[in-house]
Amino acid sequence: MIPHLKVQRADAETARARLEREGLLHPDFRAQHDGDFVLWPLAGAAEGEIVQRKGRPARSVGRDYRDALSPELRELAPRAFDMLGHVGILRLSDEAEPHAAAIAQALLESHANLRTVAVDSGVQGQWRVRYLVVVAGEDNLVVQHRENNLRFEVDLQQVFFSPRLAGERARIAALVRPGERLLDAFAGVGPFAITAARAGAQAVAIDGNPAAEKWVLRNCEFNNLSYESFEFHTGLAEELVPRLGSFDRVVANHPTGSLAFIATGLAALTPGGVLHLYLLVDRKAPELPIGVAEALGDFASVSGSRMVHPYSPGRELRVLDLLRKSS
Ligand SMILES: C[S@@+](CC[C@H](N)C(=O)[O-])C[C@H]1O[C@@H](n2cnc3c(N)ncnc32)[C@H](O)[C@@H]1O
Repeated sequence: MIPHLKVQRADAETARARLEREGLLHPDFRAQHDGDFVLWPLAGAAEGEIVQRKGRPARSVGRDYRDALSPELRELAPRAFDMLGHVGILRLSDEAEPHAAAIAQALLESHANLRTVAVDSGVQGQWRVRYLVVVAGEDNLVVQHRENNLRFEVDLQQVFFSPRLAGERARIAALVRPGERLLDAFAGVGPFAITAARAGAQAVAIDGNPAAEKWVLRNCEFNNLSYESFEFHTGLAEELVPRLGSFDRVVANHPTGSLAFIATGLAALTPGGVLHLYLLVDRKAPELPIGVAEALGDFASVSGSRMVHPYSPGRELRVLDLLRKSS
């Protein structure tokens, strides 16, 4: 028998995060569900209601979840998937789609911390919200995510969020000088702006999606940010930015709309300021995507360029750091 911490379902994520932080979550077993309660397997003494249960073995992370599938399904199931909080996210080929339920169930059972598995049909519409359909486990797409020692919560059905940008958020935050004014023009649930504000920036964030504000404010609270160092505006960046004054740094993470934003973003910079522009580019294309050099003119130069992550077989997400000249 294995001791388990019994918690209300609503408190399950908080409890899991605490147990993980304190090294008390047993790595060899997975969570169990009992009505409105979740039972976390313990590797040591924890405070709270402890119950004894036969442990349900978790396959170790890193082992291929497809091992539980038939050889035919194993061929169709993708090896790679994303994990965001308690949600596993699968992208399926047309051939795999009819077998989504079996593939998702195998994934759900292979990882201790997964409670939901959803199939992803890509980001859609003006607000770039991911089209997700839950095919196994709990019908709950509100996730808690930790990165860079910060905590974020988001409803994946309402607002865009990608954990694959955590490294970029840390990079930008490391560049922040205390008290600098930073604009996050396409903020989503606020991870760039919040990470920068925690590093000492006076952050201003904008997003056009009317659902974003609630999550941004919640994430500010989770990360102990006061309104003195953070403000948020709902609206279109191209309309709002010219009215918000000037900035030492502008983050434009809207890969399908950033080219059109270059002139507005550069105009909002103080001399010597930097615009971090995220773009989808063809991997075989020359270093500077078409249209960027023209938009820079004599006004700004490229001070950095790096791949953030591969996006699709022929394309990648790239960030250009554009420096506004001093005179
Ligand atoms: C790729 S997401 C980036 C979100 C965020 N920066 C992050 O890292 O999670 C782009 C965001 O831009 C917002 N957006 C799209 N068009 C916009 C516009 N014209 N003005 C302001 N926000 C816009 C979308 O709602 C979405 O949240």
